[in-house]
Amino acid sequence: MTGTSPSLPMKGKPQPTRDDLLPSDRLTVLSHPLANALVTKLRDVTTSAGEFELAMHDLTRQLVWLATDREPRRGWAISGFDGNHIQGWELSNAIASLIILRAGLGMLPPLRRLLPEAPNYQLGIKRDEATLEPRLYYSNLPDDLDRFQHILLLDPMLATGGSACLAVQHLRAGFRGRITFLGMIGAPFGVQMLLKSDPQLRIFLAALDDRLNDHGYIMPGLGDAGDRLFGTN
Ligand code: PRP
Ligand code: URA
Repeated sequence: MTGTSPSLPMKGKPQPTRDDLLPSDRLTVLSHPLANALVTKLRDVTTSAGEFELAMHDLTRQLVWLATDREPRRGWAISGFDGNHIQGWELSNAIASLIILRAGLGMLPPLRRLLPEAPNYQLGIKRDEATLEPRLYYSNLPDDLDRFQHILLLDPMLATGGSACLAVQHLRAGFRGRITFLGMIGAPFGVQMLLKSDPQLRIFLAALDDRLNDHGYIMPGLGDAGDRLFGTN
């Protein structure tokens, strides 16, 4: 069967495998044992919403750290403990971040701690669970995005890639710099879509899973990220 049905929108759709995507030099997947343990906490259905949020914070901190690995630095002098001047460093590029509501809220606190100067914007995007089409319901993107050199785009889940691709499309209407996507779990299908949507974009994930099920859920995944984060159903 190759067609799609409204209730099983991914049924019969060909999907790439992890091995197809892992060689990409624009994709980084965490492999640290602590990252594996935190992702396990996210997947475990007995993890409470509060613990889920904390695990997401710890993983996001790691992803932001890695995603800023190519940021240029500028030197500046600080006063050391003995009154002497010491060479210090700060990031010199203008960076902004964009979260996709609602689950992206779970990645916001560590981002704000690590990059307090970077403004954060939000896009409200909800995918239609029958068709998997993303729908934009809120945007506060400014007109002068091009004053930034790098925008970090955050959403825990990259499933079909529809939501992330729509966010990139909105960013590209007014932004020519680098876009980096940060997420908890991706499916090969969504990773492929997002990499194709923008030739410069890089992706950082805590885990790359096997596939999407017929309903468009990431397998093994963690379920609905927004529901897990906020304890809703
Ligand atoms: C989830 C998730 C992504 C989207 C991923 O949000 O946070 O935004 O699904 O799926 P996709 O790659 O197939 O587009 P959802 O639409 O469930 O909204 P919510 O955060 O309000 O629950
Ligand atoms: N959105 C989620 O929150 N989880 C999935 O597995 C797919 C889309």
